[in-house]
Amino acid sequence: MTTALITGATAGIGAAFARRLAADGHDLVLVARDTARLREQATELHDRHGIEAQVLTADLATEEGISAVERRLGDPKRPVDLLVNNAGFGNKGRFLDVSMDDELRMLKVHCEAVLRLTSAACAAMRGRGRGGVVNVASVAAFVPRGTYGASKSWVVQFTQGVARDLAGSGVRLMALCPGFVRTEFHERAGMGTDNIPGWMWLDVDKLVAAAMADLARGRTVSTPDPRYKALMGVVKLAPRALLGGFSSRAGRKYGPS
Ligand SMILES: NC(=O)c1ccc[n+]([C@@H]2O[C@H](COP(=O)([O-])OP(=O)(O)OC[C@H]3O[C@@H](n4cnc5c(N)ncnc54)[C@H](OP(=O)(O)O)[C@@H]3O)[C@@H](O)[C@H]2O)c1
Repeated sequence: MTTALITGATAGIGAAFARRLAADGHDLVLVARDTARLREQATELHDRHGIEAQVLTADLATEEGISAVERRLGDPKRPVDLLVNNAGFGNKGRFLDVSMDDELRMLKVHCEAVLRLTSAACAAMRGRGRGGVVNVASVAAFVPRGTYGASKSWVVQFTQGVARDLAGSGVRLMALCPGFVRTEFHERAGMGTDNIPGWMWLDVDKLVAAAMADLARGRTVSTPDPRYKALMGVVKLAPRALLGGFSSRAGRKYGPS
């Protein structure tokens, strides 16, 4: 029996990781801000799969929230074997439309929390000679898309660098780069999704299944769908200026309404 800690576990991709890992028999530490929702989910997963699910209420946009999760990851009496840094959100509006507070909140959740939780988890895992970290980024990491894309680009680069530094230690790291997934993400950010073509949407449970398979294969970056693999292949070959124009138009069409 091993234990996985998932941030942003109550909805969308994080909830799908929780379902999958509980079904595989892992005990869970579920992290998010909404305590009632966390408790409901913990009870359901315990009843359905017979696993232990601990609730840890934490706002990862705050010092106290990040510290609380760091402490849990570093607790030698209750080792965490897999960390899924998944909590995240979008901001409505283009640069200068978004307040500086919201921009900084995004960097705190997407970058500072990911840095500190990865560090706390890896230090403990390296001591035990085994463990895994999945950092949820986005295909937005590969195109110019403001603070959101830049923060996800940081997640990818950071994860690849740490994976290299810890090679041979028994600790695996992987950045997961989904395309569009039907979750609460777009609604929470006030983003319209009516114009997004049906073929671009990924099924959340299939996404998580593919991510777990890629982690087992030892991949450090996972873009787990042939449609997005092909798109990202084109993106890598396209000139940056062209990409910037396309990304900006796509952002207007598919992004915040
Ligand atoms: N959906 C997509 O199309 C898509 C595509 C690519 C990448 N992603 C990435 O996937 C990750 C998960 O997104 P999702 O689509 O599953 O979104 P979601 O359905 O809105 O779920 C977000 C989760 O994060 C938690 N959360 C948000 N802010 C938090 C904070 N400050 N502290 C702690 N927990 C927080 C939320 O719970 P509480 O509100 O209770 O805290 C919720 O459990 C994000 O990093 C996102 O950038 C999503």
